[in-house]
Amino acid sequence: MVDTKTQYHKIKTEVDAAVLRVLESSVFIGGKVVAGFAENLAKYHNSKHCIPCANGTDALQIAMMALGLQPGDEVITPSFTYIATVEVAALLHIKPVFVEVDPKTFCIDPAAIEKAITPKTKAIIPVHLYGQAANMEAIMQIAAAHNLFVIEDNAQGIGNDYSFSNGTTQKTGSIGHIGCTSFYPSKNLGAYGDGGAIFTNDDDLAAKLRMIASHGQSKQYYHDVVGCNSRLDAIQAAILDIKLTHLDEYIAARIKAADFYDKGFANNKKITTPFRDANNKHVFHQYTLLLEGVDRNGLKQFLADKGIPAMIYYPVAAHQQKMFDAFGGNSYHLPVTDWLTERVISLPVHTELDEEQQQYIIANVLEFVNK
Ligand SMILES: Cc1ncc(COP(=O)(O)O)c(C=O)c1O
Repeated sequence: MVDTKTQYHKIKTEVDAAVLRVLESSVFIGGKVVAGFAENLAKYHNSKHCIPCANGTDALQIAMMALGLQPGDEVITPSFTYIATVEVAALLHIKPVFVEVDPKTFCIDPAAIEKAITPKTKAIIPVHLYGQAANMEAIMQIAAAHNLFVIEDNAQGIGNDYSFSNGTTQKTGSIGHIGCTSFYPSKNLGAYGDGGAIFTNDDDLAAKLRMIASHGQSKQYYHDVVGCNSRLDAIQAAILDIKLTHLDEYIAARIKAADFYDKGFANNKKITTPFRDANNKHVFHQYTLLLEGVDRNGLKQFLADKGIPAMIYYPVAAHQQKMFDAFGGNSYHLPVTDWLTERVISLPVHTELDEEQQQYIIANVLEFVNK
């Protein structure tokens, strides 16, 4: 689905030198390289604080801990998401309350959030799914009206710009009280291993986030709260710092590839191409089609036989996962979510795709769909 090898070879000289510098310094955990990357990413993101951590899942968990969410509290989340978004809530004995997504953007539906609020609700967790921004303007208004926290799951949306109706623009992940992201290798800003980061503009929250990510430590060997051990290592930070300087060009390449696919699939009654919401630029972490009247597994196999990878993100929604039986997961009625899980299919989209490869992919998808 991605070509991280070709991408690496284009920046190999820079990356190899940076990794060697870390090896020579022998500062593998923390230190200047990690701090420097965090500062550069905070600047790019226009967030006051960036706290690096071990992965995007930890970022979400640490965010919920720093906000003081307690067992029995409720968080409102989409069910149509990667499991990490909701799994960490359950891990902390916080109840995930699953709501519908918008059938066009595939992101959490603000009207559904309002209906799900109870006296126990403490936070909303929008997910910028596939790189498309959730309706942050409406979400922030609901949160303010009901005194709720907003934790943005920006694992798939890093680099996206969201525009408010008053004309201001902010990066997704810098709008809520806390933003979380992942540097999983296939992400738009991908490490060569695991990594994640947490963003906030609130000084007190930043201090808590830092403390929790470091064993609840306020200074070395003084542990004020229960925390965890979640660190981005220096080699990954050195690589990410280089890739950060290319992030906008990587996003532009993904958008260009998406535009090319859009043209190739235009006017096909069985295929709906990704919706482009005017309030954000969609950074195309995934390029996902909605199929109507097509044997999806048949298409996936047909493409695989032609050497074309395709993936289904996600075949089972969170509320349908066995792990949530104890939270009454199977009692939910989320027809839009279930409808999407049966119809989506993602095609390769990355920085190294060329038009010849895309023509081949488009031709094969159309051959199967139109037969
Ligand atoms: C929407 C979403 N949330 C959270 C995560 C978790 O990130 P990680 O794999 O770095 O733990 C991911 C990525 O895998 C994701 O796509």
